[in-house]
Amino acid sequence: MNRPDKDRSRKAGKGFRALGPALAVALGAAFGNPVAAQDVQTVTATVCAACHAEDGNSVIPMFPKIAGLQEAYIVKQLRDFMSGRRKSDVMAPVVAQLKPEDVAPLAAFYSKQKLKPGEADNKKAIGLGKLIFHDGNEETGVPACVGCHQPQGAGHGVYPRIGGQHTAYVTQQLKNFAASERSNDVSRFMRVTSKRMSEEEIHAVAEYLVGLEAK
Ligand code: HEC
Ligand code: HEC
Repeated sequence: MNRPDKDRSRKAGKGFRALGPALAVALGAAFGNPVAAQDVQTVTATVCAACHAEDGNSVIPMFPKIAGLQEAYIVKQLRDFMSGRRKSDVMAPVVAQLKPEDVAPLAAFYSKQKLKPGEADNKKAIGLGKLIFHDGNEETGVPACVGCHQPQGAGHGVYPRIGGQHTAYVTQQLKNFAASERSNDVSRFMRVTSKRMSEEEIHAVAEYLVGLEAK
């Protein structure tokens, strides 16, 4: 198993280790102190902001923008990271420091932040991406994304906001679903969908999504 995905996760792991000392201090400050542990703003500013930015609009393409994600979706993801249902070398040590009661206030905070969309690198791909998003690909059985992810990719409930998300993150998640490396989707729906998509379609839909102003 020598997939490029594996290299990617090693790289992400390295980045995390490089951040290690600063993060350990921040985690200690945020969680070691029982008063600060109650304070969600302290956790978001000292722990999460290092990767997701203060308002959840991460500027690093491999770190998802979590601003304006659905509250119910964030709750599910944090619980899935905690239980190991969603695997991530980067998020696992972070959620290991969280208590179950931290999940709801964190989800409330980020769901209320305003998403800042980005811009496509490859504007030529947007046309195909738009087609996939609205119509899917009948020939290969790819469903239209809009049916669940809503117009502008704004999301609803446990269907995440995908509009405005980083191209690199969306591409990687679709590849992870296709390889079943991400397997926390209920009813395997995203695993089945992404397996049917060509590499070109995955890239194109990600280039279309990044520019959408979802909220
Ligand atoms: C060291 C960097 C780092 C830190 C610190 C960090 N995250 Fe993350 N976060 C990531 C990465 C990378 C992912 C994507 C994981 C994957 O590949 O599936 C992620 C994913 C997430 C997701 C899922 C987003 C989605 O669209 O599915 C949520 C929610 C999240 N993080 C919340 C938090 C919260 C809350 C904190 C603070 C307690 C935090 N993160 C701290 C790097 C980080
Ligand atoms: C039947 C409903 C449905 C359809 C249709 C659908 N999705 Fe999803 N998608 C979901 C659900 C539910 C999740 C969240 C899975 C979980 O709980 O982790 C998700 C997750 C995702 C994620 C991960 C988001 C994140 O923040 O990590 C991406 C990217 C995504 N879908 C893209 C697409 C694309 C592109 C299409 C169209 C080709 C599509 N989806 C079609 C239901 C759907």
